[in-house]
Amino acid sequence: MALVVPGSNSMDISRKISGISKIRMIEKTVRRFPDGETYIRMEGGDFKDEDVFVIHSLYPEQNDNLFELFLTMDIIKESGGKPCLVIPYFAYGRQDRAFQTGEAFSLKTIGKVMLSLGAKKLITVDAHFHRKKGDFDFFGVPARNISAVTVQTEHAKETIGEEFTVVGPDEGSRDFLSGIEGAVFLKKEKRCPVCGMEATECRCKNPEKEYAVKTDVPEKLEGRNVLLLDDIIGTGSTIIEAAKALRSKNNRVFVGCTHGLFLGDSLKSLGRHAEYVFSTDTVKSEATKISVAGMLSVEMKKGLG
Ligand code: R5P
Repeated sequence: MALVVPGSNSMDISRKISGISKIRMIEKTVRRFPDGETYIRMEGGDFKDEDVFVIHSLYPEQNDNLFELFLTMDIIKESGGKPCLVIPYFAYGRQDRAFQTGEAFSLKTIGKVMLSLGAKKLITVDAHFHRKKGDFDFFGVPARNISAVTVQTEHAKETIGEEFTVVGPDEGSRDFLSGIEGAVFLKKEKRCPVCGMEATECRCKNPEKEYAVKTDVPEKLEGRNVLLLDDIIGTGSTIIEAAKALRSKNNRVFVGCTHGLFLGDSLKSLGRHAEYVFSTDTVKSEATKISVAGMLSVEMKKGLG
């Protein structure tokens, strides 16, 4: 038998998934003690041999949510159950290695804890740390990264119409958009403000090591309907820069992403450069227009008796 248990910040998507998959969702009480510590109690409390799907997005308040997730996993493990993790937004995806000596390899730390708490499997969506789709090993936990690109392009067809070109804001979005035939990727040139050369060719002494970024729009992208797609929108600077460049070539710009963090007033600012902005419900925001609950339900049902 399988069960669903929601993260306290993931109630809506958990209810949707439970409804679609017909896997019963159990109650979980989460409270804060006056000093800020977390209290958790789960209905039933006996999960012997059960697959318990913990559906928990790790944004906002990444650290509190991670700790709630760890406590939840341990309740399941201690009573003989199998924690199956469904993490629509996986935090710390950018710290996917120690970039400098002495730095925390945060993602690995999370993986080690998940493994020690008995994670049977992990399902996530457009994870930044593993942009290629499919199965992979998450520090010993069998994992699957699914992509929201299909639901995003379907939604775009309903809102823009059939005729549009999918554009990635930079070279980094190639893996994320690998399933889209004909996707076009913008190139960023970094020019030295002192000598005007590209960063790689700059021979002058640019003490600040600062370069002006220029986004290059290929000639064929002119006067089109463009769907600009990215995995994450954080500060919005990547997507706004791309949207501006595309608009300067008379393109109509529509923007979609999987994880809309929309920090500060970036959603408002983006609205000045794009006709329409949408994101999925891996993170809830004013721009959430589509759900990944259906895709996650399909994935969860695989391998269940
Ligand atoms: C980069 O690798 C990602 O795919 C996104 O383009 C990036 O995280 C967006 O960040 P921001 O919105 O802060 O520019």
